[in-house]
Amino acid sequence: MCGIVGYTGHRQAAPILLDSLSRLEYRGYDSAGLAVRNGTALAEVVKATGKLYHLADKTDQGRALAGCCGIGHTRWATHGDPSVVNAHPHVSGNCSGSGSGTVESDVAGVHNGIIENYTELKEKLLRHGYTFYSDTDTEVAVKLVDYYYKKYKIGPVDAITRCMVRIRGSYALALMFKDYPDEIFAARKDSPLIIGVDEKESYLASDVPAILKYTRQVHYIGNLQVARVAPGKVTFFDLNGDEVSVPLTEITWDAEAAEKGGYEHFMLKEIHEQPQAVRDTLNSLVKDGQIDLTETGLTDEMIREIGQIDIVACGSAWHVGMAAQYVIEDLAGIPVRVELASEFRYRNIPIDRKTLVIIISQSGETADSLAALRVAKERGAATLAIVNVIGSTIAREADHVLYTMAGPEIAVATTKAYSAQLVAADILAIHMAGIREKMTADQVREMLGELATLPDKMRRVLEEKERLQWFSSKMANTHDIFFIGRGLDYAISLEGSLKMKEISYIHSEAYAAGELKHGTISLIENNTLVIGVLTQKELYEKTVSNMMECKSRGAYLLGITTNGNFSVEDSVNFTVYIPKTDQHFMASLAVIPLQLLGYYTSVNRGLDVDKPRNLAKSVTVE
Ligand code: AGP
Repeated sequence: MCGIVGYTGHRQAAPILLDSLSRLEYRGYDSAGLAVRNGTALAEVVKATGKLYHLADKTDQGRALAGCCGIGHTRWATHGDPSVVNAHPHVSGNCSGSGSGTVESDVAGVHNGIIENYTELKEKLLRHGYTFYSDTDTEVAVKLVDYYYKKYKIGPVDAITRCMVRIRGSYALALMFKDYPDEIFAARKDSPLIIGVDEKESYLASDVPAILKYTRQVHYIGNLQVARVAPGKVTFFDLNGDEVSVPLTEITWDAEAAEKGGYEHFMLKEIHEQPQAVRDTLNSLVKDGQIDLTETGLTDEMIREIGQIDIVACGSAWHVGMAAQYVIEDLAGIPVRVELASEFRYRNIPIDRKTLVIIISQSGETADSLAALRVAKERGAATLAIVNVIGSTIAREADHVLYTMAGPEIAVATTKAYSAQLVAADILAIHMAGIREKMTADQVREMLGELATLPDKMRRVLEEKERLQWFSSKMANTHDIFFIGRGLDYAISLEGSLKMKEISYIHSEAYAAGELKHGTISLIENNTLVIGVLTQKELYEKTVSNMMECKSRGAYLLGITTNGNFSVEDSVNFTVYIPKTDQHFMASLAVIPLQLLGYYTSVNRGLDVDKPRNLAKSVTVE
């Protein structure tokens, strides 16, 4: 997704903006640009396609752009192809060419989001004499602000709020006005934006890692709010232009937490951070041996009233939902549906006040999941968000929030956030089971005791990484992989398959083991790799039989099973063992070998592990 940065203070802006943009690269982008105030003119604008270093080179690492106030942007194209002319910042002037160079316009801006009605707004502006040099919705937004600013001869805040009333869609905007030389104006609806301050400088960014090096004091600007950002001072306004207060939040993430910490890739670092992420999440939800969900606002009475749970998410978060379904139904006896957010939001699925809709999202900004949340609320369901980013949009709009404590996750392929979400769902299941008297207090205590052993058991699995590294070195020519399992093992297979696909670009499929024979087994050829997840006592022998059916057609078998289950070696070609734990928590351990397999395969293929092609860390557009 697009990344926005801004700086105003006493130091040269461009080097700070470039550094901040570099910490947002994980969001995925295809072009970048800067606009820096350079005295009398509005700004000097420089843009470049491709990686950020092209822009840095073009501006001599920022030294060629003098000025202490500026905005920057990395663009992930949604309207208009990746090009210099479509790159941000965009300006209000009817300039020719790409909108680069010294710009005499009155307004310049950068944007993250989608202006859904930009065509009608563009036609309106064309009727008022504006011309356009790009194909973007952002240029329309910037010119619309300029239009109101000139037509009503009002200040930037009022011009922006008038624009917000007309715009449909999502946006995080950072704007500079020629008449306000050292200030930046910001506005947001549904797209992420934070504003950092210290005594003499102010910063804007789409995400925390961009400014953590400069300040830990941030404001999470609210939805439909406007900010006036001066050096070391920020003022907030609501849609009526009335001043409002937005609390300052201390970011506790260390700067190193967003660095690689000695690992080759963020992903490997985050795989190894999983035990800590799980421990921190458990510790935030279990106090003195008792589950404490007070902060979510979920009361015992509400939990007793639940008639149906709908878990709604995307990607790996949806895989967490698939695992949680087995755990919640088995422990708490509540029926659970697991829905893809992009489907849920358009289905007329029966929901009533006894339905609890759980939205799982690492970023808390995924557009499909946010839209599903709003649909659920419109239909009267109680909503609970399980998210990792404090203050994120989904966190703030859900009725109840349960935070995971995975810390900043930079790699596009999620690992530690996935694991933290798994145990958060386990805690929720156990809590509900206790409240609904499906489990005794002793059983709850026993389960919590077992959960507490997971971090150490996860560390033991990580010690197996060399075996996975060796195995992945044999997979250079693999072009099709099948991950299979039954019950919770099927849910684990889903995540293993996605990890492999998204970072190694090898086609793979996850299949319920019992389903293979209904068609897909026709794809099994000589040396096709079939990975069986074999952790569920009552089911794994059936999966082994399914694997043998594949072996008889030439497949090569890898089995992931629990220590002591040595009989599996009679059937499969390669076995990975994980420690034993309660059946319900097996996903937390079995997923690690699958993450490592995907990671090492990607490394062996020389791919960009942390920023895989075509993907973004947070999909904030539909
Ligand atoms: C996971 O490795 C992927 N990067 C992707 O599927 C991700 O899980 C999905 O886009 C949901 O993101 P969210 O958890 O931030 O909502």
